[in-house]
Amino acid sequence: MQQIDTIDRLREVVRAARAEGNRIGLVPTMGYLHEGHLSLVEAAKRQADFVVVSIFVNPLQFGPSEDLDKYPKDLERDLALLTQQGHCDVVFTPTVQEMYPTPMATSVELPELAKFLCGKTRPTHFQGVATVVSKLFHIVLPDVAFFGQKDGQQLAVIRRMVKDLNFPIEVVGVPTVREADGLAKSSRNVYLTPEERAHATILYRALCWARDRIAKGPTSGRELSDGMRKIIAEDGVGRLDYAEVVSMDTLAPIERLEGPVMLAIAVYFGKARLIDNLQLTIE
Ligand code: PAJ
Repeated sequence: MQQIDTIDRLREVVRAARAEGNRIGLVPTMGYLHEGHLSLVEAAKRQADFVVVSIFVNPLQFGPSEDLDKYPKDLERDLALLTQQGHCDVVFTPTVQEMYPTPMATSVELPELAKFLCGKTRPTHFQGVATVVSKLFHIVLPDVAFFGQKDGQQLAVIRRMVKDLNFPIEVVGVPTVREADGLAKSSRNVYLTPEERAHATILYRALCWARDRIAKGPTSGRELSDGMRKIIAEDGVGRLDYAEVVSMDTLAPIERLEGPVMLAIAVYFGKARLIDNLQLTIE
C-alpha cells in the first residue's frame, strides 16, 4: 500500500493503474477507521481492481459550532488497519492546504435534498460533502465509489449529484456495520459516556420496531414516526432530533409507504449526535 499526499502524484499513480486495464474504486473517508469503513474497502476490492481510500477531515462540511477541531484522528492506526486488511492499494492523505489552496469560489449544492433530515440542523453540511466528493471524483476519476448506507442522506445526495452532473461513476451503497447490540459503528461513538453508550441502542431498537410494524400490515408514515419518537422519549436519556419516514429518492417525508423508503433517526446524547436508518423497498 502506498501513502500519497499530493494530488499530482495520486493522479500519476491512478493513471498508470488505469492504463494497465484496472477498474479503479474509491472509498472516501475522514479517517479514525472502524469496521464500517473497512467493509467499504472490502466491497471496493471485490468490485474494483485498484482501490484508493482517501482520509481527509473536510473542514467545508463542519458548521462553525461543530466538532472539526475535536474530530478524532489517528493516522498511524488507520494506516496499520488498512495494511493489515490488505485491500487498499493507495491511501490518499492530503492536507487542507493541498485540497483547498485558495478559498473556494465554487460549491456543489443540492438544496432540495439538503433541506430535510440532518440538513435542518446542519444547513451547510451537505454542500461541504458534495463539494469535497466532487473534488475527489475529479482527482481520482474512479469507475466506482463506495458509500455507507449508515449515512443515508449523504448516499442519496451523492447518487443525485452523480445523476444530475453526469459523473461517469457507479455509486455503491454498502450496508451498515453494527456493534453486537445493534449500535451503528461510528467514529463519533467515542464521544459517548458509558451510560450514554448503554442507551445509544435506542436508535436501532426504534428502527427495528418500525420495520417490524411495516411487516405486520398496513400502516402510515405518521404512525411509524410517532411510534419511533415515543420509543426514544420513553427511554429518556437521548434527546430526539428527528425520527422520520422519507422517500429514499427525494428525502421528503411520506405518508403512504411505497417504493424505496428510509426510516431515519437522529438523537443527541450529550455532545454527540447519533444517526441511524433502515432502507427498505416496499412493493
Ligand atoms: P466518514 O464519516 O469517515 O465515513 C466514510 C464512509 O464510511 C461513509 O460513506 C460512511 O457512510 C461510511 N460508514 C461510516 N460508518 C459506517 C458503518 N457503521 N457501516 C457502513 N459504512 C459506514 O462520510 C464521511 O466520512 C464524509 O462525509 C465523506 C464522504 C468522506 C466526505 O468528506
